[in-house]
Parts: sequence; structure tokens; C-alpha cells
Amino acid sequence: MTIQWFPGHMAKARREVSEKLKFVDIVFELIDARLPLSSRNPMLDQIVQQKPRLVLLNKADLADPAQTSLWINYFREQGHQVLALTAKEDKSVKQILPASKKVLAEKIARDKERGLKPRAIRAMVLGIPNVGKSTLLNHLAGKKVASTGNRPGVTKGQQWLRFGSQLELLDTPGILWPKFEDPAVGKKLALTGAIKDDLLHLDDLALYELEVFCRFYPEQLKARYKLTDDELFMELPELLMLISEKRGFKDDYERASEMLILELRQGKLGRYTLDRFEELSD
Ligand code: G4P
Repeated sequence: MTIQWFPGHMAKARREVSEKLKFVDIVFELIDARLPLSSRNPMLDQIVQQKPRLVLLNKADLADPAQTSLWINYFREQGHQVLALTAKEDKSVKQILPASKKVLAEKIARDKERGLKPRAIRAMVLGIPNVGKSTLLNHLAGKKVASTGNRPGVTKGQQWLRFGSQLELLDTPGILWPKFEDPAVGKKLALTGAIKDDLLHLDDLALYELEVFCRFYPEQLKARYKLTDDELFMELPELLMLISEKRGFKDDYERASEMLILELRQGKLGRYTLDRFEELSD
């Protein structure tokens, strides 16, 4: 089945995001650190335009740290301030305020020269579904959540959340859709849980997972499923059959596939990155 990319979705999301952009100083663009390209919306640059941006490679705790470092450099070279983030951890989230100040350093200095009273930085969180937007908002706002009420002009019902006295966040994040016309991108998004896996065959996903792990993380795969070196060189469908047998699923490859995908998502196969920096073709 081909997964569709609906232009209608995009147009609506774009309108909603553009409306919110007017009220903020900075955008926090959340990307999945395991998919630094596939989890971005390709129209994001067009939508965000010149609005200052902080790129956050979230779920860094699940990603391959060596790849994350390479991707951080990649985004820096593109002129972005970027942080590897674990939105679930307060310690990690605390880095966001100083990084935002860096992004806005010129504006802050200009305001100061003009004698303007310093005010809290206003931000919005933007990203595809499941990338961790709500988690980030909850951890940023934490117990200090204080809605400062509606501001004139802000979409009705729109509230601000406060992180200390220096940062205010729109309480509803901007949601963008990933583009998954490319089947490999679709598989990557489904494996990490960003899109529903009922759109793809489970065994296709599991075979893709095995392909990636045989190639980039063979030791992790061997350890988890007690495989020998030779077994790693089997044809992928045979390897799936073998793992299925080892786990007692006999020839129920659907169940074996489900188990492989679930264990990947639960982090039982260790850290991994599906978008490979070395495969970047720009
Ligand atoms: P969204 O608003 O962008 O749609 O995403 P949301 O915050 O709901 O996060 C989606 C899932 O990703 C949640 O897991 C959340 O806990 C997890 N998550 C978010 N940030 C991080 C992170 O930095 N590291 C890790 N390891 N996970 C993260 P879930 O299984 O759907 O929910 P739950 O079991 O945590 O309740």
C-alpha cells in the first residue's frame, strides 16, 4: 500500500502555524534524533522563513550518539543553533533557555540599546506527530505551569505557559506532517512510531529493521537475539524465520515481526539512528 501525502493536511497545518508564528520570537523545531531528515517537514523552511529557530534533536537518549554528533555539525553548518535533547529529562530541557538567548542575542542587544525593558522570550514548539512536543511542553512548564491568559490577537483559547520568568510558550504546539512518498522514509517513520504501522506490512518493517541492524548495529542484534556471526549473513527473510523460531513463534512471522518492532521501540536493541549521515546526498 502506498502511503499518501495529503496536500490538504499541509495547507491547513501551514495556515495554523503561520497564524501562531506572528506571536512568537523563536520557533523550537523538534526533530527525532534517530531521523534527523525524515522527521522534518520539507516545507518547514518556507513556513518558518526568517523567524529565529532553535533546532532540537529530541529522543537523543535513543539515538546513536556518534551519528547525533555528526548531525549536530550538519545543522550548525546550515546556520542553525542546535541541541541534542531528551525532552523527558529536566536537566536536558534546561539547556533550551541559554540556547534560545544565543539565537536571539542580536535582538536582545538591540532591544537593550533602545532602552526597552527586557521581557520573556516567546516561543512555540513545532514538529511532526510523536516527536515529543507535549513531553517538551510538560517538562518546560513543569510545576511552574502558569497560564498568563489570552493575549489580544492570539487564537481564541490560546494560552501561554511559563518557564521561569524568561521564557513563555504557546501551550499548543504546531503540528506538521512528515513527507513520506519515499518508501524508505515511510518505513523509518513507521518503525520509530511516528506514523501508524498499519499503513505498512509488519514483515516489511521488520525486514527493514534487520537490514539496518545487520549493517550498522550487528553486535546489538547478535546480543539481543543470540545470533552467531554467520547467522548475520543470512538472507533477511531467513534471518527473520530463524529469530521467529528462536523466540518460539515457529512460522508465525507476523508475530515475530511485531515483536522485533516492539523491542526496537522499547529500546531493547540499544541506541540507533536510521537516517545515516554518511548517506546524505546533497
Ligand atoms: P507529540 O506531542 O509530539 O505528539 O509527542 P509526545 O510528547 O506525546 O511524545 C510521544 C512519545 O515519545 C511518548 O511516548 C513520549 O514519552 C516519548 N518521548 C518524548 N520525548 C522523548 C525523549 O526525549 N526520549 C524518549 N525516550 N522518549 C521520548 P509514549 O510511549 O507514546 O508515551 P509514554 O509511554 O511516555 O506515556
